[in-house]
Amino acid sequence: MERFGHLQAITVTPEDTATVVTVARQKFLNALNRMVLAELDFVLDVLLEDVPNKPLIITGEGSRAFVAGADIGEMVNMTPDEALAFSRFGQGVFSKLETFPSVTIAAVNGYALGGGNELAMACDIRIAAKNARFGQPEAGLGIIPGFGGTQRLARIAGKPNALDLILTGRVINADDALRIGLVHKVVDEGKALEESLSYSRAVLKNSPFALSQAKKAVSGAEPSGPGNGMSAEADLFSRCFAHHDQKEGMKAFLEKRRAKFQEEP
Ligand code: COA
Repeated sequence: MERFGHLQAITVTPEDTATVVTVARQKFLNALNRMVLAELDFVLDVLLEDVPNKPLIITGEGSRAFVAGADIGEMVNMTPDEALAFSRFGQGVFSKLETFPSVTIAAVNGYALGGGNELAMACDIRIAAKNARFGQPEAGLGIIPGFGGTQRLARIAGKPNALDLILTGRVINADDALRIGLVHKVVDEGKALEESLSYSRAVLKNSPFALSQAKKAVSGAEPSGPGNGMSAEADLFSRCFAHHDQKEGMKAFLEKRRAKFQEEP
């Protein structure tokens, strides 16, 4: 995998049963900035050409976080137009992952919040370690999920659970995520990658062509297609960046204090 040598925030490791793609920005709990998204996009393009039939495992560096969200330091000063472009770009990368022809698995250790949960939800299968934590805390920052989370969470866990998580911003543990169907399996701490590799082995015995057709068929069978919802999500996400509460919410996070939001919406 020499073609990936120049990457700064993603590592690609070929294993016998799968290719492991790791978000490696541990200092920031693997938060997604534009560079990480661009590198992920590049990696998916190369893998699509080279080994499109091999299962793909997405994980985060270290045990504390899968991905703790989009990078708040990068978003704090975005204009609405920049936020719209950021949302569309992230949506595009995650859609590429969702439509990847082989089986994709998120191996989740620690926090999968905001964009981290959205990244995990763009995979076919989510395997969580006991210390995994899931949530969409964006409203506490004065914004909404912008990388497909409003659409995928409702599809995966149902609209009531999606609204509950998005409106409260609360963080749930792996067992609660299993209960609402957000993850497929919970394993002991430190075992998510091992279990994902073994899951890959199990699907490898099936026809790769049949798997890619099955993914397309299941995706087409979903009650509401991603089209309009995604576009509305990007517009609404961008609108938040024209409002006082986004600047205040993100500055408060970076300054490690409680945000003071406007009383009127
Ligand atoms: N964007 C940018 N930086 C982030 C980040 C994010 N989404 N999540 C964490 N970090 C950074 C922190 O700012 C901190 O940096 P510092 O060491 O320079 O202060 C570092 O990662 C470690 O995080 P910290 O908050 O100190 O760890 P913690 O264990 O106290 O809390 C979390 C962990 C995940 C609960 C907390 O970091 C958090 O709430 N992160 C934001 C989650 C979020 O709102 N995501 C959605 C974004 S749209």
